[in-house]
Amino acid sequence: MENPFEFGRELGADELVDRQEEVAEVIRVIKSGEKLFVIGPRRYGKTSILKAADDRAAREGAVVLRYNAESYPMLDQLVAVIVADAARAMRGGVERAGEQIRKFFSKLRPELNFNVTESSWTATLGVGGNAAKGEGVGVGLLVDALDGLEKLAVAQPADRPVGLVIDEFQRIIEIGGQDAERQIRSAIQRHKRTGYVFAGSKTRSSPSGSSSCHESSGDGCASVKKQNEFIAAATNSLNRLD
Ligand SMILES: Nc1ncnc2c1ncn2[C@@H]1O[C@H](COP(=O)(O)OP(=O)(O)OP(=O)(O)O)[C@@H](O)[C@H]1O
Ligand SMILES: [Mg+2]
Repeated sequence: MENPFEFGRELGADELVDRQEEVAEVIRVIKSGEKLFVIGPRRYGKTSILKAADDRAAREGAVVLRYNAESYPMLDQLVAVIVADAARAMRGGVERAGEQIRKFFSKLRPELNFNVTESSWTATLGVGGNAAKGEGVGVGLLVDALDGLEKLAVAQPADRPVGLVIDEFQRIIEIGGQDAERQIRSAIQRHKRTGYVFAGSKTRSSPSGSSSCHESSGDGCASVKKQNEFIAAATNSLNRLD
Protein backbone atom coordinates (compact mmCIF):
# COMPACT_ATOMS: atom_id res chain seq x y z
CA MET A 1 0.00 0.00 0.00
CA GLU A 2 1.20 3.49 -0.74
CA ASN A 3 2.21 5.59 2.23
CA PRO A 4 -0.52 8.23 2.60
CA PHE A 5 2.02 10.67 4.07
CA GLU A 6 4.26 12.62 1.74
CA PHE A 7 7.51 12.60 3.62
CA GLY A 8 9.92 15.38 4.43
CA ARG A 9 7.70 18.37 3.98
CA GLU A 10 6.41 20.79 6.64
CA LEU A 11 2.72 20.11 6.75
CA GLY A 12 -0.04 22.66 6.93
CA ALA A 13 -2.18 22.53 10.07
CA ASP A 14 -5.06 20.96 8.15
CA GLU A 15 -2.86 18.12 6.89
CA LEU A 16 -1.47 17.19 10.29
CA VAL A 17 -3.18 14.09 11.58
CA ASP A 18 -3.79 13.54 15.28
CA ARG A 19 -1.49 16.22 16.66
CA GLN A 20 -4.08 18.78 17.78
CA GLU A 21 -3.17 18.49 21.43
CA GLU A 22 0.50 19.12 20.80
CA VAL A 23 -0.25 22.07 18.52
CA ALA A 24 -2.56 23.55 21.14
CA GLU A 25 0.07 23.09 23.84
CA VAL A 26 2.73 24.87 21.77
CA ILE A 27 0.35 27.78 21.14
CA ARG A 28 -0.51 27.99 24.82
CA VAL A 29 3.16 28.06 25.80
CA ILE A 30 3.92 30.81 23.27
CA LYS A 31 1.01 32.90 24.49
CA SER A 32 1.65 32.47 28.18
CA GLY A 33 5.41 33.00 28.13
CA GLU A 34 6.18 29.47 29.30
CA LYS A 35 8.92 27.09 28.22
CA LEU A 36 8.54 23.79 26.47
CA PHE A 37 10.78 21.15 25.00
CA VAL A 38 9.28 18.96 22.34
CA ILE A 39 11.47 15.93 22.14
CA GLY A 40 10.45 13.00 20.08
CA PRO A 41 11.48 10.46 17.53
CA ARG A 42 12.38 11.40 14.01
CA ARG A 43 9.33 11.80 11.78
CA TYR A 44 6.97 12.16 14.69
CA GLY A 45 5.75 15.43 13.19
CA LYS A 46 7.63 17.83 15.46
CA THR A 47 8.48 20.33 12.73
CA SER A 48 4.95 20.22 11.39
CA ILE A 49 3.56 20.78 14.90
CA LEU A 50 5.76 23.85 15.31
CA LYS A 51 4.74 25.26 11.95
CA ALA A 52 1.03 24.75 12.59
CA ALA A 53 1.33 26.36 16.02
CA ASP A 54 3.36 29.26 14.60
CA ASP A 55 0.80 29.92 11.85
CA ARG A 56 -2.12 29.88 14.23
CA ALA A 57 -0.51 31.87 17.04
CA ALA A 58 0.65 34.50 14.53
CA ARG A 59 -2.84 34.73 13.06
CA GLU A 60 -4.11 35.29 16.57
CA GLY A 61 -1.76 38.24 17.12
CA ALA A 62 1.42 36.70 18.54
CA VAL A 63 4.90 37.56 17.32
CA VAL A 64 6.48 34.19 16.59
CA LEU A 65 10.12 33.83 15.57
CA ARG A 66 10.78 30.30 14.37
CA TYR A 67 14.10 28.76 13.27
CA ASN A 68 15.73 25.52 12.41
CA ALA A 69 19.08 25.55 14.19
CA GLU A 70 20.53 23.29 11.52
CA SER A 71 20.30 26.12 8.98
CA TYR A 72 22.90 28.15 10.88
CA PRO A 73 26.44 26.78 11.02
CA MET A 74 27.45 29.56 13.43
CA LEU A 75 25.44 30.95 16.30
CA ASP A 76 26.16 34.58 15.37
CA GLN A 77 24.31 33.95 12.08
CA LEU A 78 21.25 32.77 13.94
CA VAL A 79 21.49 35.74 16.30
CA ALA A 80 21.66 38.22 13.39
CA VAL A 81 18.56 36.67 11.84
CA ILE A 82 16.67 36.81 15.15
CA VAL A 83 17.47 40.53 15.41
CA ALA A 84 16.41 41.20 11.80
CA ASP A 85 13.16 39.27 12.24
CA ALA A 86 12.46 41.11 15.47
CA ALA A 87 12.75 44.37 13.50
CA ARG A 88 10.30 43.03 10.94
CA ALA A 89 7.82 42.28 13.70
CA MET A 90 7.87 45.82 15.05
CA ARG A 91 5.07 48.20 14.32
CA GLY A 92 5.15 51.91 13.69
CA GLY A 93 7.36 52.37 10.64
CA VAL A 94 10.91 51.61 9.68
CA GLU A 95 12.62 54.33 11.68
CA ARG A 96 10.79 53.56 14.87
CA ALA A 97 11.36 49.81 14.42
CA GLY A 98 15.11 50.36 14.00
CA GLU A 99 15.22 52.57 17.05
CA GLN A 100 13.42 50.04 19.21
CA ILE A 101 15.51 47.12 18.04
CA ARG A 102 18.76 48.99 18.68
CA LYS A 103 17.49 49.68 22.18
CA PHE A 104 16.27 46.17 23.03
CA PHE A 105 19.32 44.47 21.57
CA SER A 106 21.81 47.16 22.57
CA LYS A 107 24.33 44.62 23.90
CA LEU A 108 24.72 43.25 20.39
CA ARG A 109 25.19 46.73 18.89
CA PRO A 110 23.26 45.72 15.80
CA GLU A 111 23.48 47.59 12.56
CA LEU A 112 20.16 47.36 10.81
CA ASN A 113 19.28 47.72 7.20
CA PHE A 114 15.87 47.93 5.66
CA ASN A 115 15.66 47.01 2.00
CA VAL A 116 12.81 49.07 0.60
CA THR A 117 12.34 47.07 -2.59
CA GLU A 118 12.09 43.78 -0.81
CA SER A 119 10.64 45.19 2.36
CA SER A 120 13.08 43.11 4.35
CA TRP A 121 15.45 43.68 7.24
CA THR A 122 19.01 42.55 7.68
CA ALA A 123 21.13 42.90 10.78
CA THR A 124 24.85 42.81 11.38
CA LEU A 125 26.19 42.46 14.87
CA GLY A 126 28.57 45.09 16.15
CA VAL A 127 30.03 42.61 18.61
CA GLY A 128 31.46 39.16 18.26
CA GLY A 129 33.13 39.10 14.86
CA ASN A 130 35.85 36.50 14.70
CA ALA A 131 35.77 35.99 18.42
CA ALA A 132 32.26 34.64 18.00
CA LYS A 133 33.62 31.76 16.01
CA GLY A 134 35.35 30.12 18.95
CA GLU A 135 33.45 27.39 20.73
CA GLY A 136 31.12 28.70 23.34
CA VAL A 137 31.49 32.40 22.52
CA GLY A 138 28.49 32.43 20.20
CA VAL A 139 26.38 31.27 23.11
CA GLY A 140 27.01 34.60 24.81
CA LEU A 141 25.59 36.34 21.74
CA LEU A 142 22.58 34.07 21.74
CA VAL A 143 21.95 34.76 25.41
CA ASP A 144 22.18 38.51 24.70
CA ALA A 145 19.68 38.04 21.88
CA LEU A 146 17.29 36.19 24.20
CA ASP A 147 17.62 38.96 26.78
CA GLY A 148 16.85 41.48 24.02
CA LEU A 149 13.84 39.49 22.94
CA GLU A 150 12.54 39.49 26.50
CA LYS A 151 12.84 43.29 26.61
CA LEU A 152 10.95 43.45 23.35
CA ALA A 153 8.29 41.10 24.74
CA VAL A 154 7.89 43.19 27.89
CA ALA A 155 7.33 46.27 25.72
CA GLN A 156 4.46 44.66 23.79
CA PRO A 157 0.82 44.97 24.81
CA ALA A 158 -0.70 41.94 26.53
CA ASP A 159 -2.50 40.83 23.37
CA ARG A 160 0.78 40.61 21.50
CA PRO A 161 2.70 37.76 23.09
CA VAL A 162 6.18 36.90 21.82
CA GLY A 163 7.45 33.38 21.18
CA LEU A 164 10.79 31.97 20.08
CA VAL A 165 10.61 28.55 18.50
CA ILE A 166 13.81 26.66 17.70
CA ASP A 167 13.69 23.34 15.91
CA GLU A 168 16.64 20.91 16.01
CA PHE A 169 17.67 22.63 19.21
CA GLN A 170 20.28 19.98 19.98
CA ARG A 171 22.34 21.54 17.20
CA ILE A 172 22.78 24.67 19.30
CA ILE A 173 24.25 22.62 22.10
CA GLU A 174 26.53 20.92 19.59
CA ILE A 175 27.76 24.24 18.16
CA GLY A 176 27.73 26.12 21.42
CA GLY A 177 29.82 23.73 23.43
CA GLN A 178 29.39 22.19 26.82
CA ASP A 179 28.23 25.21 28.70
CA ALA A 180 25.60 26.26 26.17
CA GLU A 181 22.73 24.40 27.73
CA ARG A 182 23.31 25.83 31.20
CA GLN A 183 23.68 29.39 29.91
CA ILE A 184 20.58 29.25 27.76
CA ARG A 185 18.54 27.58 30.45
CA SER A 186 19.50 30.15 33.04
CA ALA A 187 18.66 33.01 30.66
CA ILE A 188 15.24 31.73 29.73
CA GLN A 189 14.36 30.95 33.32
CA ARG A 190 14.76 34.65 34.09
CA HIS A 191 12.40 35.55 31.28
CA LYS A 192 8.74 35.87 32.10
CA ARG A 193 7.22 37.18 28.90
CA THR A 194 8.85 35.33 26.04
CA GLY A 195 7.44 31.90 25.31
CA TYR A 196 10.13 29.38 24.36
CA VAL A 197 9.54 26.22 22.42
CA PHE A 198 12.57 24.10 21.60
CA ALA A 199 12.25 20.91 19.63
CA GLY A 200 14.61 18.23 18.61
CA SER A 201 15.88 14.77 18.99
CA LYS A 202 17.55 13.50 22.04
CA THR A 203 21.35 13.81 22.08
CA ARG A 204 23.91 13.25 24.79
CA SER A 205 23.66 16.77 26.13
CA SER A 206 20.09 17.53 25.23
CA PRO A 207 18.16 19.40 27.83
CA SER A 208 15.22 17.49 29.14
CA GLY A 209 15.43 14.95 31.90
CA SER A 210 13.04 12.43 30.49
CA SER A 211 13.94 10.78 27.29
CA SER A 212 11.69 9.54 24.57
CA CYS A 213 14.47 8.18 22.42
CA HIS A 214 17.70 6.66 23.45
CA GLU A 215 20.57 9.06 22.80
CA SER A 216 22.46 6.84 20.44
CA SER A 217 19.48 5.59 18.54
CA GLY A 218 19.25 8.46 16.02
CA ASP A 219 16.75 7.58 13.37
CA GLY A 220 16.42 4.20 14.94
CA CYS A 221 14.24 5.25 17.86
CA ALA A 222 11.66 2.87 16.55
CA SER A 223 14.11 0.08 16.75
CA VAL A 224 14.86 0.55 20.42
CA LYS A 225 11.27 1.03 21.54
CA LYS A 226 8.12 -0.62 20.50
CA GLN A 227 5.89 1.48 18.27
CA ASN A 228 3.17 2.18 20.84
CA GLU A 229 5.72 2.82 23.56
CA PHE A 230 7.59 5.43 21.67
CA ILE A 231 4.53 7.30 20.49
CA ALA A 232 3.45 7.52 24.13
CA ALA A 233 6.93 8.57 25.17
CA ALA A 234 7.03 11.29 22.53
CA THR A 235 3.74 12.66 23.71
CA ASN A 236 4.82 12.54 27.33
CA SER A 237 7.98 14.31 26.50
CA LEU A 238 6.15 17.53 25.86
CA ASN A 239 7.92 18.48 29.04
CA ARG A 240 7.86 21.80 30.71
CA LEU A 241 11.24 23.23 31.56
CA ASP A 242 11.85 23.98 35.22
N1 LIG B 1 0.72 13.67 12.33
C1 LIG B 1 1.06 13.58 11.04
N2 LIG B 1 0.13 13.70 10.07
C2 LIG B 1 0.47 13.61 8.77
N3 LIG B 1 1.72 13.40 8.33
C3 LIG B 1 2.69 13.27 9.24
C4 LIG B 1 2.41 13.37 10.64
N4 LIG B 1 3.57 13.22 11.31
C5 LIG B 1 4.53 13.06 10.40
N5 LIG B 1 4.01 13.08 9.15
C6 LIG B 1 4.77 12.91 7.92
O1 LIG B 1 6.11 12.84 8.27
C7 LIG B 1 6.85 13.88 7.64
C8 LIG B 1 7.83 14.42 8.64
O2 LIG B 1 7.16 15.22 9.57
P1 LIG B 1 7.97 16.29 10.37
O3 LIG B 1 9.09 16.80 9.53
O4 LIG B 1 7.03 17.26 10.93
O5 LIG B 1 8.56 15.34 11.52
P2 LIG B 1 9.74 15.63 12.50
O6 LIG B 1 9.37 15.01 13.80
O7 LIG B 1 10.06 17.07 12.51
O8 LIG B 1 10.91 14.80 11.82
P3 LIG B 1 12.49 15.03 12.02
O9 LIG B 1 12.82 14.53 13.40
O10 LIG B 1 13.08 14.18 10.95
O11 LIG B 1 12.79 16.47 11.86
C9 LIG B 1 5.85 14.89 7.16
O12 LIG B 1 6.24 15.51 5.95
C10 LIG B 1 4.64 14.03 6.93
O13 LIG B 1 4.71 13.47 5.66
MG1 LIG C 1 11.79 18.09 12.12
